Order: sequence, then C-alpha cells, then structure tokens
Amino acid sequence: MNVVEYNRKAWDHQVDSGENPWTKPVSPSVIADARKGIFSVLLTETISVPLDWFPPMQGKDVLGLASGGGQQCPIFAAMGANVTVFDNSPRQLEMDSFVAHREGLTNLKVVCGDARDLSCFADGSFDLIFHPVSNLFMPEIRPVWKEAFRVLRHGGTMLSGFLNPVVYIFDYLKAEKGIIDVRFKLPYSDVDHPEMLAIQEASKNPIEFSHSLEEQIGGQVEAGFCITGFYEDKHRDYVISEYTPTYIATRAVKF
Ligand SMILES: C[S@@+](CC[C@H](N)C(=O)[O-])C[C@H]1O[C@@H](n2cnc3c(N)ncnc32)[C@H](O)[C@@H]1O
Repeated sequence: MNVVEYNRKAWDHQVDSGENPWTKPVSPSVIADARKGIFSVLLTETISVPLDWFPPMQGKDVLGLASGGGQQCPIFAAMGANVTVFDNSPRQLEMDSFVAHREGLTNLKVVCGDARDLSCFADGSFDLIFHPVSNLFMPEIRPVWKEAFRVLRHGGTMLSGFLNPVVYIFDYLKAEKGIIDVRFKLPYSDVDHPEMLAIQEASKNPIEFSHSLEEQIGGQVEAGFCITGFYEDKHRDYVISEYTPTYIATRAVKF
C-alpha cells in the first residue's frame, strides 16, 4: 500500500474529526505570550522542551518537520523566526496557516510533502529543525535523518521527539482498557498485521511503525549529528506508562 498517501488522508481526517489534540491550533493568548518571549512547546506528550535547548529565535530560519497542526510553529514565528512548516497533511498545514493569518504572522509558510524527501530545500537552509513525535507514521526514518542533516546549517540544532519502540510489543487495544498483554514482536507495523490494519482502516486512523533505538538514535549519529541532550516522557493516562517511560526527546547538533 502507499503509506504516505494513506496517512495523508488519515491525518486530514484527524483534523476534520476534531478529536485529536495534536490538530488543535494554539490560542491568541499563547501567541501574545510568545511575542514577549514567553513560551512552552512539546516534542513529546507532557514535558515541555527545556528552554536552553533553543537558540535565540529572532531572525533564525526554522523548519517544523512533520510539525503541522498550528501548535509549535506559529509560536516560533511569533518569536521572530522565519518558519517553514513541512508536513504530509494539507489539513494539518491549514491549521498553521489559520493561526498565521489570524495573528498576521507573515514569516510563516507551509510546504506539503514526505519527510524522507526534503529536496525542495537547498543544503544548509535552516538553523533549527523542530521534529515532534511523528516518525511512527513513516515506514523508514534513516532517510529523514539524512535529509534533516543536509538541510541544516553547520552549528544548527535538531530537536526530535519519538516513541520508545517497547510500546509496540503490547496489545494497545487491551492497554487502552488497562490490561497489559505482550503480543507483538519488534519491529512492529500495522501493515504486517492484517487484523490491526483492518482496525486502523475502519477508524481512518494513521498507520504506525515501530522504529528501533538503533534507527532512532544510531540513525541520527550515522547521519552526522552529535546528540547533546536527552530526556524521557510518558503517555498521559496509559497503563504502559505506569511501568516505563514511553517517549524520548533528543537535542542534536550539526557541528
Ligand atoms: C502527532 S502529529 C505531530 C505534530 C503536532 N503538532 C505535535 O505537536 O505533535 C504527526 C504529524 O506527522 C505528519 N506526518 C506523518 N507522516 C509524515 C510524512 N511521511 N512526512 C511528513 N509529515 C508526516 C502528520 O501529517 C502529522 O501532522
């Protein structure tokens, strides 16, 4: 199946359904605070990104990589950065354009595409790449790290959030009901399990892929990045999080 095409429609549907918190644009008061330099953004689900992970934002070229939804990128634009939001879902990008229009943020633009191919950007185009939890929706991630490295300037920073792959060994339908049942071997993908794929398709949910820590962390290092920051986070209200952190965030630099 064409995963990118399927997930584009699935994420468009997430916006239209109005039920996914990762599709909700920020309020005017959040933008007003950001204009004063007061901000808090998420790469994972609950813990705010440490403020010292960011460069001074004024005049910086920022790429929001798979970061649509009108959440973090308009905040960066309100802080004076020149922001490009890159995402596979036109509807998610509309959320960013909506906030930009509402707030007069002419320094925010949107580009639709697949994160594995950033060929629309020249080498060394950005000072900061902000890549929130999203690569679970991508079949392969090593090309994403390579492209991110290429489009970043020397001295630039990439901030990424991703899932700890351990979450994929559990039956998530049972886990949502508080029952822990080890069911799947890693690597996991909905496409390898017809019964899970059918459930995702019936609910128009995006298709997911576990990626090993070797792909996530080793992949960044292989691409040339030096990892300079790391923290873990947990899902809110999810039984697995009572036993282990479920998210990882990294700060990586292109020296
Ligand atoms: C959970 S949302 C992340 C953005 C959200 N603002 C946040 O804070 O988490 C996941 C995003 O990844 C995007 N996405 C999924 N597959 C993609 C791909 N192959 N290339 C680019 N973006 C992709 C989706 O369209 C969606 O907007």
